[in-house]
Amino acid sequence: MSALAGIVLAAGRGTRMKSKRPKVLHEAAGRPLLAYALETLRRAGLHQLIVVVGYGADEVRAAIGDGVRYALQVEQRGTGHAVAQALSLLENDGDAVVCYGDMPLIRAETIAQLLVTHREASATLTLLTAELADPAGYGRIVRDQGRRVREIVEEAAATAEQRAIRETNSGIYCFQTGWLRMALPRIPLSAKGEYYLTDAVRLAIADGVHVAAVRGDPAELVGVNDRVQLAEVGALLRARILRRLMLGGVTVVDPATTYVDAGVEIGPDTVLHPNTTIRGRSRIAEDCEIGPNSYVVDSEIGRGSRVWASVLESATVGRGVRLGPFAHLRPGAVVGDGCEIGNYAEIKNSRLGPGTRMHHFSYIGDASLGREVNVGAGTITCNFDSETGQKSRTVVGDRAALGSDTMLVAPVEVGAGAITGAGSVVTRDIPPAVVALGVPARVARETRPRQRRAEDDASLRPPDDEELRGIGSR
Ligand code: UD1
Ligand code: CA
Repeated sequence: MSALAGIVLAAGRGTRMKSKRPKVLHEAAGRPLLAYALETLRRAGLHQLIVVVGYGADEVRAAIGDGVRYALQVEQRGTGHAVAQALSLLENDGDAVVCYGDMPLIRAETIAQLLVTHREASATLTLLTAELADPAGYGRIVRDQGRRVREIVEEAAATAEQRAIRETNSGIYCFQTGWLRMALPRIPLSAKGEYYLTDAVRLAIADGVHVAAVRGDPAELVGVNDRVQLAEVGALLRARILRRLMLGGVTVVDPATTYVDAGVEIGPDTVLHPNTTIRGRSRIAEDCEIGPNSYVVDSEIGRGSRVWASVLESATVGRGVRLGPFAHLRPGAVVGDGCEIGNYAEIKNSRLGPGTRMHHFSYIGDASLGREVNVGAGTITCNFDSETGQKSRTVVGDRAALGSDTMLVAPVEVGAGAITGAGSVVTRDIPPAVVALGVPARVARETRPRQRRAEDDASLRPPDDEELRGIGSR
């Protein structure tokens, strides 16, 4: 048996989307529509994939990448014409699955079923059809008295009687490509000035070759032509994702207001509270609580962490962290195990060591904070020099305590165990274990030796299982 090819048509503009962006790059559940078709074909065992691009070809190539080959359809002259552009890239005359790039709900099992029928029937052309309650907009499957497929009639060309037919063309086919090569040049120009792939059925019947058909689940066969369908398909994809997560042990308190992208991973016993969006390549470990009202994109959250009414973008959060309400972690924020990041805290391109606390109204940018640092209310890294336009770094040593309203004028370093007084403006480095006060901050004295308690050391290590359970229920 020769290798199976997959041809995905994605050259159309998608006029009905009324968009500058090619239709197949519009996203549903965080992925371009076209990416779903490709993944499905791969999962059905098709590895020789050809994408026909045209409108916005460079944009489509950039979004989809090198995992497939591309055929260029310079002018979009119909689905039949589009397939013809891919033929020269086919490695042999075996079977090929043709599908459209605007059908993200189709499942790999359905493609596999199409292939089985195609082979068992020794068909030259096998169609996937669907019985739709509302067939408007789709091509209709016309059968003869013996229930054999005779032709596909596009809606525009259909008679009133044909329009009443509820069996529609899904736009997914399996072709014997040797025959297809000979058939495509014979497809006539339609009244709309296009070469319709669907006319291949009429040619197959005329040639006396076998046409088979498989009836698929209508829920999978919705094509996206406009933004109403984009939203419908998005909702169905989201429901599938949430179902998979829930069956995998994730609690989703309110699926109707929970939005999780296709590429997200979430561990068991994590709870997603209402109004939560988790996007991109985010990874959330087990035993976490996310939301209500959280927005997490491309971020990683460690086991047993709590993210309440907060926004995370390309951030990394350790284990047993408490975040929010109203924290904003921006790209490059790395928050160590057991940190507490509270109300109106913003962190950008900064590392916070384990056990560091930053409870109220603070901004930490381009900084590195040690472990168990206390960031007093209103502390700000003044990381931007408006005269030079440059950003500078701030370093704060382990167990330092920054008093309320400390301004750290970067570049600057605060030594381990140092304390700054309320309202101090730190313009020069502060050595370890001293108290610095004033504007600009000056060293006033050494700190009083702190009584080291056994718990100090305990709090330095990451939380163990027992404690994580405690964190989850707190
Ligand atoms: C098509 C089918 C219709 C079927 C429906 C299922 C034809 C003629 N009609 O109609 O029978 O019920 O899909 O959703 O095939 N494309 C190209 N190049 C072109 C034209 C289209 O690559 O020149 C691509 C588009 O990017 C799109 C796909 O082919 O991904 C389908 O095109 P579209 O215009 O959406 O076809 P429909 O009118 O939906
Ligand atoms: Ca379509």
